[in-house]
Amino acid sequence: MHAPGHVPETTLEAAAPQPAQQEHAPREMIAILDYGSQYSRLIARRVRECRVYCELLPASTTLDELRRLGAKGVILSGGPDSVYDAGARRVDQAILESGLPVLGICYGMQLLANQLGGRVEPHTGRREYGPARISVLPQPADAAALDALFAGLTEAAEGGEDGAEGKGATLDVWMSHGDSVGELPRGFVPVARSESGALAAMSDGRGRIGIQFHPEVAHTPQGTAMLENFLFRVCGCAPTWTPGAFIEEAVGRIREQVGDEGRVICGLSGGVDSAVAALLVHKAIGDRLTCIFVDTGCMRAGEPEQVVETFRSHLRIPLVAVDARERFLTRLAGVTDPEQKRRIIGEEFVRVFEAEAERLREREPIGFLAQGTLYPDVIESTSHDASAAQKIKTHHNVGGLPEGMQFALVEPLRYLFKDEVRQIGAELGLPEEWVWRHPFPGPGLAIRVIGEVTPERLATLRHADSIVIEELRRAGLYRQIGQAFAVLTPLQSVGVMGDGRTYASMVAVRAVTTGDFMTADWARLPHDVLARVANRIVNEVPGVNRVVYDITSKPPATIEWE
Ligand code: XMP
Repeated sequence: MHAPGHVPETTLEAAAPQPAQQEHAPREMIAILDYGSQYSRLIARRVRECRVYCELLPASTTLDELRRLGAKGVILSGGPDSVYDAGARRVDQAILESGLPVLGICYGMQLLANQLGGRVEPHTGRREYGPARISVLPQPADAAALDALFAGLTEAAEGGEDGAEGKGATLDVWMSHGDSVGELPRGFVPVARSESGALAAMSDGRGRIGIQFHPEVAHTPQGTAMLENFLFRVCGCAPTWTPGAFIEEAVGRIREQVGDEGRVICGLSGGVDSAVAALLVHKAIGDRLTCIFVDTGCMRAGEPEQVVETFRSHLRIPLVAVDARERFLTRLAGVTDPEQKRRIIGEEFVRVFEAEAERLREREPIGFLAQGTLYPDVIESTSHDASAAQKIKTHHNVGGLPEGMQFALVEPLRYLFKDEVRQIGAELGLPEEWVWRHPFPGPGLAIRVIGEVTPERLATLRHADSIVIEELRRAGLYRQIGQAFAVLTPLQSVGVMGDGRTYASMVAVRAVTTGDFMTADWARLPHDVLARVANRIVNEVPGVNRVVYDITSKPPATIEWE
């Protein structure tokens, strides 16, 4: 269940997975040890994009743990430490000596060098940061394994004209480091150097590779191909992490966890995550799943109807729909503080959900609660490394387990990123419109009606918002936009309509492009689309006479206004 509203951090404890669930690792996994780089999560995403399953694990993970998880290779992430720092994080020496393929990125490379007997040069005040060009060094013909990471890339690379076999070519990469490797560990050879002469890549030809640059960022154009080389050529993985494979495995796991008799409830929010979680559980145990949908009165136009129609008629999944609009709106009356709105909606949601769950439980025992928790929530809430600089603010998509309710959690999406969830939703037959729906905050329109939330103001916003979305879809832009919506501001301004003067509300339109919602840029929507949106809103929505477009990025602004 995704409880709307702010869920206090402490409830994350209650939402912890069953240990058995975590140990049940899928085959062919790559372990990414997290040394605190802001890019660690991005490495995980890129590996998944190569269709290889991976998990982000703490730097302190041991070889035994990796063996238990069935890791076929290890990636050591970058990080803010210097190997010379007193508390510098290290890698279990046994991992380096185990024969498992290891790719050390940036700090990871320095760790490889440092722990295997090479030497890391402390930086002398100058950091190399930003785009750089590296030269892949010619290798003896019989040592092809040394530059496996660059196989097939240098030929295609810009400036790769010298050398009949593409050796000695250059590649564009993204660097961000202070220290660098000065002396190679025994058994390693230099594979690439940066223009400044610094060692950019090293390899021992037996699967241990260090690179000083970041293959995971978009500024390293061939980065994904390098990761593929590591995964497929060096680790011997196959690209088998597909939606079909995931569904099969997830269904098996759910059956195992819930058993032959167990019953599950699942709260639907109208978003893609809870819907996909419900679909997976339904595929696994059929009608022993009951979904609960609470209409808070703060949903977008047509949303409650769509949830009911899709689940009951289209997907044929048992659904209890609760019309709690009045209850929510009564409690929100007169409230203007956004955090208080969030708290009220969160509390009220848990109460309604709890009451419905109890009603269902009176008929038959229900032991499990399914939730659409995603991997980024898990990574953030379990924060692998307290000293990691990058503890980015999260938005509590890990719903709080209602206090005092005894359920075991079923979280089939716990190891997935959002784009993977969308693919799986599509594969499971979730209507396309739903699969691609922009995320929507739990407290819904209540935090987009700035100031007091009344049924009238909600209706105004709902109408304006539906015009924004309709026009984006019509222009074929909806999918390219991360999130778009209207905000009803508390400002009133003067206008003219017909022969008369008006004094009416101002609506703001927000549209952002974003990968992860942690940062976002305002969408450069075509002027004619903006014009149509503004024109339609002032003409069709009573009480609105002015439309503005929000052109701030995040940071410094946030995506939502409240
Ligand atoms: P901000 O406004 O912080 O939002 O840039 C980032 C993402 O989080 C969503 N969001 C919320 N989601 N409950 C939620 O479930 C909330 O209270 C909440 N506030 C923001 C927001 O829509 C965006 O996708």
